[in-house]
Amino acid sequence: MLPEGLLCLLSASLAFAQSRTPLPINKITSLNTQRLPQQPSFAIPVHDTTPLAVSIALCSNASPNPRFFISNISNWDSQDDPGPSNLNGGIEIQLTDGQGNWTGLFPDGGILAVDRNGAGAVAFDVAVSDSEPFHQTLKELPLFGDTTSNQALLYSPSFLSVPPFKPTYPNYTLPAANLSQPELPASSSTPNFTLILSRTDTTKNIPRTGCFLLGPSTQKSGVISSQSVWARGSDWRSQFLMAGLTPATNYTAYVLQDSTKVSGPIYFTTKSAAFTCPLVHSLPFCPSVGYAVPLPSPPNAATYDSTNLPDTISTPLISYLANFTTVLTTFACGRDWYSPIVGCDDCQREYRSWLCSISFPRCGEPSPASPDGFTAVPAPPSATGIAASLAGKGVSSPQQVLSALLPQQTRDPPRNPFFPPPTTPYRQLLPCIEQCYATDRSCPPFLGFRCPSTSFNAGASYGIGYIDSADGDKGQGLTGVAQDRYGNVWCNLI
Ligand SMILES: *[C@@H]1O[C@H](CO)[C@@H](O)[C@H](O)[C@H]1NC(C)=O
Ligand SMILES: *[C@@H]1O[C@H](CO)[C@@H](O)[C@H](O)[C@H]1NC(C)=O
Ligand SMILES: *[C@@H]1O[C@H](CO)[C@@H](O)[C@H](O)[C@H]1NC(C)=O
Ligand SMILES: *[C@@H]1O[C@H](CO)[C@@H](O)[C@H](O)[C@H]1NC(C)=O
Ligand SMILES: *[C@@H]1O[C@H](CO)[C@@H](O)[C@H](O)[C@H]1NC(C)=O
Ligand SMILES: *[C@@H]1O[C@H](CO)[C@@H](O)[C@H](O)[C@H]1NC(C)=O
Ligand SMILES: *[C@@H]1O[C@H](CO)[C@@H](O)[C@H](O)[C@H]1NC(C)=O
Repeated sequence: MLPEGLLCLLSASLAFAQSRTPLPINKITSLNTQRLPQQPSFAIPVHDTTPLAVSIALCSNASPNPRFFISNISNWDSQDDPGPSNLNGGIEIQLTDGQGNWTGLFPDGGILAVDRNGAGAVAFDVAVSDSEPFHQTLKELPLFGDTTSNQALLYSPSFLSVPPFKPTYPNYTLPAANLSQPELPASSSTPNFTLILSRTDTTKNIPRTGCFLLGPSTQKSGVISSQSVWARGSDWRSQFLMAGLTPATNYTAYVLQDSTKVSGPIYFTTKSAAFTCPLVHSLPFCPSVGYAVPLPSPPNAATYDSTNLPDTISTPLISYLANFTTVLTTFACGRDWYSPIVGCDDCQREYRSWLCSISFPRCGEPSPASPDGFTAVPAPPSATGIAASLAGKGVSSPQQVLSALLPQQTRDPPRNPFFPPPTTPYRQLLPCIEQCYATDRSCPPFLGFRCPSTSFNAGASYGIGYIDSADGDKGQGLTGVAQDRYGNVWCNLI
């Protein structure tokens, strides 16, 4: 039994606590600065032992922004609101791009106070969570696939990794050449991903929050022609195929996870109206291929996928891979080791990526920002990639990095002999040489897989010096990556 005095005190504090509206746990509360209670503050419930994450997202664009103050001393009525003139033991939650959060312990509850700060009607969402903040910016960005003049292929951040297939001796069975998509584990649910695509010129200085991006003030572009869940290499992602875009236009993309977690922005540009290469994607045997290729437009379809890619292209590719696998497994895979760190499974996986990137040449276009950005003539045998592309155009500025684009004429033999000859000239975006080296490193020497030497003629078939330096120093190339969040793609890496 508690002493009577203490009981009175407890019930008094309970009664007090009810006069500020409590914020529910694990729910979003939608509010507006023009419809706040007389005392513009809310009670955060008492929560023992584990922290609560309080997060805020602005849902309208305002200047100035309202300010938010939080204290975790108690939620008693006798407790003063924290505010701009007196923090009363609390702190201000700073907003970044319209979003803010604070995580802490609330053994006696707390108070969230809103300071209108002279703002007009500003809608905002508040959430109190007993795990991670509802409103947050995800570290991982959406992945840019490719564009045509009016389509874009984009991917959500990875939500699950595909466990590597590790066969062991004596049953050393490698994945089939005609690979199929793995099963999505029944235990994992796919997050609800929403793609928000807008013209970049409409997205300056906006709150980067789920409720703003989903709301009517965001001018959305394009239509989703398909959304699917796809195991792209080692990651499960949502894949979005967007249509109805405008040629040569800058776009900004966000991917929202469960409406409140924001990934992005990334930026990209659609190709010019003259760009004719269609997209190819969703091929289970080449799961990371998702870009424009020099094929004629698919009959009665907007893109190529496994349902309409001609057998004359897929059958030889799968046959090469099957034959390669047969030869590879003449080695005592899993019993003998040709390397302490890689096995036949790694070799097959890297060879598949390499073969897919070689078999599906990629079309590209200089970005509008650098229309001179392509190699005018095949590289001289002595040139390495970047040097070649700069020298080929007579460009001497060391600042400008040009993509590994090589013009292809209709009289040139197709890069993949199983492709029909191109009917229009196009520019090929060469594979990154790192793709070749990864295969070389992973495969047993007896297979005789070799990459061209950078000091001989590799620059004619590969982008060199972008990711790794031309001397092979890891990540020390001109860009360190194959593509960036601004829509630059320097070489093709799948
Ligand atoms: C408020 O939260 C902080 C951070 O979790 C914690 O260190 C502090 O003890 C809390 N204050 C009270 C009064 O519980
Ligand atoms: C919470 O806010 C801090 C800044 O106060 C920020 O650095 C952090 O990324 C936010 N956390 C999440 C999960 O968004
Ligand atoms: C060998 O492994 C494969 C793939 O994991 C499996 O499908 C097959 O049943 C196994 N065979 C034997 C004899 O264990
Ligand atoms: C997924 O999120 C969108 C955007 O918030 C929402 O409109 C839709 O109802 C959600 N779908 C499901 C199945 O929850
Ligand atoms: C590969 O597998 C798919 C689906 O199982 C099948 O439709 C296709 O004919 C196979 N292709 C080859 C070349 O074996
Ligand atoms: C694969 O090997 C078979 C049998 O040796 C051969 O008939 C076929 O032409 C080879 N495929 C390719 C693409 O080289
Ligand atoms: C698109 O973005 C690029 C680089 O950010 C810029 O140079 C170009 O002017 C923009 N194009 C349009 C049409 O706004």
